[in-house]
Amino acid sequence: MKIYKMKDYEQMSRKAAGIILAQVISRPDSVLGLATGSTPIGLYDQLVKWYESGDLDFKEVKTVNLDEYRGLTRENDQSYYYFMHQHLFHRVNICPENVHLPDGMAEDGEAECRRYEALIDSLGGADLQLLGIGHNGHIGFNEPDRYFAKETHCVKLQESTIEANKRFFASAEEVPRYAYTMGIGTIMKARKILIVANGAGKAEIVKKAFFGPVTPEVPASILQMHPDVTLVGDEEALALI
Ligand code: GLP
Repeated sequence: MKIYKMKDYEQMSRKAAGIILAQVISRPDSVLGLATGSTPIGLYDQLVKWYESGDLDFKEVKTVNLDEYRGLTRENDQSYYYFMHQHLFHRVNICPENVHLPDGMAEDGEAECRRYEALIDSLGGADLQLLGIGHNGHIGFNEPDRYFAKETHCVKLQESTIEANKRFFASAEEVPRYAYTMGIGTIMKARKILIVANGAGKAEIVKKAFFGPVTPEVPASILQMHPDVTLVGDEEALALI
């Protein structure tokens, strides 16, 4: 595992974006697994800058997002579909048919999970999967559990996740209770993993996930078993390791 401890959020974002830039330059038709949350916003801004300066081309890039709330339409400004378009897709030359997220409005949830997993497989899996980390160690929306969920599935969000994510909604009541997420198995199949973390609030969980026991109680701890993981964090998030 490679660890980059960067001075601050801006440096973290630049470093992580540089790893994505290198991936796309070495393979212009890369399949990028992408993530939402506040942590990757700075790195998406940096990718947009490099696109605008002509250093990065998304023409052949394909993307698969980690997760999506169940029950939110694409137009809802809290959906991950909306987030990704606002922060990245609308700002670069990616082809609309090459961006993929679970469909939060699918009527048959089970079928949607199977469709999404098959779609990722049909693209050959992610070349690089970007991840953030939740305060309870969740990746995507894989919450602490007694086992590691393998494939894309629908999860009931934990109260702590609803609490953490309510800052984006008018109230906690509006946060959806369910979400679709790639499984731990889906994430582990990515050829490279890039995980980003910033702020003192993540220091404890970063230490637990990467230097504690591998357990489904801390879903991100499974990444210790992946052969190609890069953690990029700011000094605060990496303070305890
Ligand atoms: C959400 C997302 C995760 C993300 C996590 C951390 O629940 N489903 O993919 O990594 O929150 O978010 P933040 O980066 O805002 O701390």
